Amino acid sequence: MSERSETAQGQSDATSRCRQVAAAMVAPGKGILAADESIGTMNKRLDKVGAAQTEENRRDYRELLVSTAGLSDGISGVILCDETLRQRFADGRGFPEALCELGLLPGIKVDTGSKPCPGLPGEQVTEGLDNLPARLAEYAQMGAAFAKWRAVYTITSDLPTETGIRANAHALARYAAACQEAGIVPIVEPEVMMDGDHSIEKDAEVTSAVSAAVLAELADFGVDFAGIVLKPNMVIEGTDHAERSSPKQVAEATAAGLRALPDDLAGVAFLSGGQSPERATANLAAMQAHQTRWPLTFSFGRALVDPALQAWRGDSGKLSAAQDALAQRVAANAAAVRGERTDQELHPV
Ligand code: 13P
Repeated sequence: MSERSETAQGQSDATSRCRQVAAAMVAPGKGILAADESIGTMNKRLDKVGAAQTEENRRDYRELLVSTAGLSDGISGVILCDETLRQRFADGRGFPEALCELGLLPGIKVDTGSKPCPGLPGEQVTEGLDNLPARLAEYAQMGAAFAKWRAVYTITSDLPTETGIRANAHALARYAAACQEAGIVPIVEPEVMMDGDHSIEKDAEVTSAVSAAVLAELADFGVDFAGIVLKPNMVIEGTDHAERSSPKQVAEATAAGLRALPDDLAGVAFLSGGQSPERATANLAAMQAHQTRWPLTFSFGRALVDPALQAWRGDSGKLSAAQDALAQRVAANAAAVRGERTDQELHPV
């Protein structure tokens, strides 16, 4: 085969692999567990529950989460950070290998965090593009099936600006294209933050503008929509807003914003964004009343793991209580995406 046709063959193999993995990530009744907090963020969370901020505790906690019995019944894959991907289970298996044996796809957060954006006071841009193809090649070799990159947008009276929206959308698209070339499915995560007192209508407006910019950049970079999972925020009022939207209102506003998404997208997996676990589940359940062209599932972090972290607090004697707490959240969210929630469960917000 000529060099050019070998490259083309390699690319088409990568494309079909990405499509297959992306479909598995949003398989019916399953969501994605986000356990990819950076070392700094994880340390803050450990400190909050009175656990020591050590590498060992970060490892123990992640092993506790992913080895919860039956996790793969409601979870397709787990997003890890670089530190965890390189760590080992207590029995010596590397995390990626152990996850595969547990029926879970290993994922890796590849952005290096959001930083103040030069030229745009008050706005942030996510970094991590330098050397990304080489890092992705290493992660692929280590067994990562998918990746994550999170862009953050804060709402104030004059933010985000169009330029801020575009800068983050551009980075997300370059990241997504690099992932697909490496045969790794990109989770594309543009997050409009809940911080602030904005209304649900304002959130809808900003989320739509962000989504349009991200879709345009993804298309410009030739990203294959069937080989990505979009991870947006739900459309919801700001944390300090006077009125709280109902699950029905959140679902309607969110579904309306999704209409512009392309038909061939693999799926949508929402972040929880600081909602309580119960509220995030109720909103996700209400979303299922809307007929969409792609699965609407969850890729929650805090809304899945907070009760487990609270139960564990670094105490090995509380391991099974912590795993029960995680199992309960996973079961509730899996039931939500399967449309199996009862009315009673829909209202505890
Ligand atoms: P939350 O569900 O806690 O918002 O986290 C999801 C995530 O992956 C953030 O990048």
